[in-house]
Amino acid sequence: MAADETKTNQDNVSESQIAVHWKEEEYFEPSQKFIDQANLTDKNVLEKFGEDNFPECFEEYADMLDWDKRWDTILDSSNPPFFKWFVGGKLNASYNCIDRHLAKHKNKTAIHFVPEPENEPITHMTFQELYVRVNEFAAVLQDYCGLKAGDTVTLHMPMIPELAITMLACARLGVIHSQVFSGFSGKACADRIVDAKSKYLITADAYYRGGKLLDHKEKADIAVKHAEEEGQHVEKVLIWQRYPGKYSGETPIVEGRDVFVNDIIKDYYHKVIEPVSLKAEDTLFLMYTSGTTGKPKGAQHSIGGYMAYVTGTSKYIQDIHPEDVYWCMADIGWITGHSYIVYGPLALAASSVIFEGVPTHPDAGRPWRIAEELDVNIFHTSPTAIRALRRIGSEEPAKYNYHFKHMTTVGEPIEPNVWRWYYDVVGKKEAVIVDTWWQTETGGFLCSTIPGLHKMKPGSAGPGVPGIYPEILDEEGKPLPKGCGKAGNIVIKNPWPGRMLTIWGDDERFKNQYYTRYNRDPESKDWHDWPYFAGDGAVEAPDGYFRILGRIDDVINVAGHRLGTKELESAALIVDEVGEAAVVPVPDPIKGVKPHVFVSLKPGFSPSPELEKKISDTLATEIGPIAKPGRVWIVPDMPKTRSGKIMRRVLGSIAQGNDTGDVTTLANPQIVEEIKKLY
Ligand code: WTA
Repeated sequence: MAADETKTNQDNVSESQIAVHWKEEEYFEPSQKFIDQANLTDKNVLEKFGEDNFPECFEEYADMLDWDKRWDTILDSSNPPFFKWFVGGKLNASYNCIDRHLAKHKNKTAIHFVPEPENEPITHMTFQELYVRVNEFAAVLQDYCGLKAGDTVTLHMPMIPELAITMLACARLGVIHSQVFSGFSGKACADRIVDAKSKYLITADAYYRGGKLLDHKEKADIAVKHAEEEGQHVEKVLIWQRYPGKYSGETPIVEGRDVFVNDIIKDYYHKVIEPVSLKAEDTLFLMYTSGTTGKPKGAQHSIGGYMAYVTGTSKYIQDIHPEDVYWCMADIGWITGHSYIVYGPLALAASSVIFEGVPTHPDAGRPWRIAEELDVNIFHTSPTAIRALRRIGSEEPAKYNYHFKHMTTVGEPIEPNVWRWYYDVVGKKEAVIVDTWWQTETGGFLCSTIPGLHKMKPGSAGPGVPGIYPEILDEEGKPLPKGCGKAGNIVIKNPWPGRMLTIWGDDERFKNQYYTRYNRDPESKDWHDWPYFAGDGAVEAPDGYFRILGRIDDVINVAGHRLGTKELESAALIVDEVGEAAVVPVPDPIKGVKPHVFVSLKPGFSPSPELEKKISDTLATEIGPIAKPGRVWIVPDMPKTRSGKIMRRVLGSIAQGNDTGDVTTLANPQIVEEIKKLY
């Protein structure tokens, strides 16, 4: 058993190996112009947020918010690892993102909405208008749906301003929102409805993507049907219309179940709903993410700790000032969009851009035209988007008159040469870059340079951000000192306010997944004994900068989106002909990594290109287009250990054309050559 477990670890290091060979890079200095205006230039900040001042240091973040009642206890660590922040405090997230700005900023743009079609004008919603629309929709949720604090609703919405409105309306009432990425299938949405036990689904009829108006309502029909089969009844589907007053979907409206928001909201025009005063440790939202087992888990985030953390990091790491135009190109359906499109930037009264479409459509100049038109000065995206824009439009940024002061990269390791293109060409050598490492579970950034204080180093995220104490541990839990050149597992030694409360409905899984691995004493009430295990491999350079190497568990990071190998494999197994399936990550020049699917067929079936396509299509429809495999390999049998475990490491080497190493210990070593001969 123990031997097999070691193999599991080895099986999954292939992503780490991609990055481990990067050499140490030269530093880049932030410009004096940037430093002169930066929010954080206090050289002592890491000491101020150091262990001697923990947890009081985080009051600085909480003080950036308006509280109805101040907290009594900063950190309640009496029941590890279920840490609670700002206990006794009461607040409302919607109030903090909207109402409190009205006195000074009501006429300022809160949301710039950029439709994908370029002939549709960009719209600008002021904080006053956002206030009115959030109140109206909160009235719908409260009076029409009968929802109240603590209830859950599932959202399956595309990148339209109504998504932010819906989230903030939920937050106003204390209704827990669970937004599912719109690119996910109806089935994937259903699984999340069932787990969250939502009685309401809020969706949109259609949205633009890659030049096409996609029917989105059809996914709601599938979601409701599957949820019903799994025992969760959805009473109503609320549908926002892409063009208000006009239905752009193709599936029929289900009488009594489907309602258009634009019809019912008329009864609530200009209604004001007082923000509900909620406990700091109450739940703001759920965000489902992939883990080591097949079932996605709902990261349950708090109101007080989360809001304090995203506001503080938006101010200090994103360097957001109220006068900035801030564009994060991520999708709100991921944690990045929740923390750094909606809650963080709006809490700071910035103008946040919501872009509906694909950055490379209709051409790779589109993002830079948007940046020029809106005079965006803070830009935030992923290595995948940067690689794609570089590949098809490396000369484009220079053609447009925009100037970023600050740029972010997030979600995957960024290759130093891609980093340099981002810096030289997109940032025009004027913008600082922060490479921010964090996770759905962590609410906000964990490692990054502080833009006005630290030098940047391509390929490295940087040190822990203020108040975060990362460390690299070896398999036995021994710290690997900085500069030792060895990779290990990155942990965070301390609790912090942005961390999820738990996994929705599964405290045990939460404990096991993130804490059991390095816990020093399960009975201990001292947080020092409970390091947070992130599930990423990393190395710490002599300068204390962390380089993240990738997942060490069964998670594949495609274009910065987490997919569980088990989820992908179970989707492949839906295809009748498939007997066994194994998924491995394979490096890809644009997406960072793509899943390759190996399948063996049930007796009586034979391989064909049609079958390969069927398997590939099934993954896309079951999970979503991001799950589309780089390649489907139909093999006569899987390489297996004597105990019957599929050797993903061997499959990974085959997929990459690498040496498969010593396979003599396999139960069926000859299969390796057979597969190689076939392809
Ligand atoms: C990876 C996204 C390298 C990492 C915010 C992590 C990164 C997973 C970086 C979380 C980065 C995120 N450099 N790798 N700057 N940022 N990752 O939950 O493997 O969608 O565990 O959160 O993405 O993905 P998630």
